[in-house]
Amino acid sequence: MTDPAHPHTVCRRFSAAAQTYETHAAVQTLAAEQVLALCPETPTPRRIFEAGCGTGLLTRHLLRKYPAAELVAVDVAENMIRQARHLTPARPDLHWHVADATTFRDAAPFDLIVSNCSAHWVDPIGLLFANLAALLPPGGGLAFSLMLHDTFCELHDTRLKIAPHKPPTARLPRLDDVLESLRNSGFQIRQAQAARHLQYFPGAVAFLRGIHEMGLTGGAVSQAKTPLTRQELEQLATEYDRAFKTNESDVVATYEVGYVSAVRLSPSFS
Ligand SMILES: C[S@@+](CC[C@H](N)C(=O)[O-])C[C@H]1O[C@@H](n2cnc3c(N)ncnc32)[C@H](O)[C@@H]1O
Repeated sequence: MTDPAHPHTVCRRFSAAAQTYETHAAVQTLAAEQVLALCPETPTPRRIFEAGCGTGLLTRHLLRKYPAAELVAVDVAENMIRQARHLTPARPDLHWHVADATTFRDAAPFDLIVSNCSAHWVDPIGLLFANLAALLPPGGGLAFSLMLHDTFCELHDTRLKIAPHKPPTARLPRLDDVLESLRNSGFQIRQAQAARHLQYFPGAVAFLRGIHEMGLTGGAVSQAKTPLTRQELEQLATEYDRAFKTNESDVVATYEVGYVSAVRLSPSFS
């Protein structure tokens, strides 16, 4: 991937983490259930597009909720799609594609677009929403979750303390910015909320290993122009343990997750 909106490291890290991703994806599993609850009971969608399906956590829920729908699921990371195929029973109306959700096109429109914990990997996020709007007719629905600004705020603060001269080159979006971008792409917001989910780990090293094994360490929100040295990484783990220990052994990590449902306006209203 050479497009600056989808850095090569994002694709590469997720592909490398495909087999270990789900063992660590507790918050993403919870978020998938919340996205499902945002999807309509009626009318039942006939064609669904899923952007950034990963290993198929949300896809499998959708297949149970809408057994008669055609489902097209895409992800930029080839091994994520391979793992999704492996974990999901095959169905003639289920189509997996290694593809970029910011440019993907299909011959027919969709009634519903969904995405779980993936949209924040596109920078700027409006590139994604503009393409999703093009895949939906007026009245078509969008339901998704994404990670927001305060996700891993403990890690962010510790990192700036240890290596203030090596800040990550970007920060996750705030909910208001996401909603503004959606409106600018021709969507009307139906529901939007931000929730904090806390996860506990037996120390900073276990936390850092977990996010590495989920593939979350690619892209501008994790990486600085100059990487941290081994010594800085050790200092970071020590300082994280000191500052964010919640009891004898556990440290906390915050996820701030946005849950949004929206509808595509007709072009004259957007
Ligand atoms: C944290 S994972 C979430 C996966 C899955 N939706 C879930 O619920 O577990 C984010 C996924 O988004 C994918 N992704 C990032 N940018 C993408 C893009 N532009 N198009 C398609 N997939 C993308 C990554 O490859 C990765 O598999």
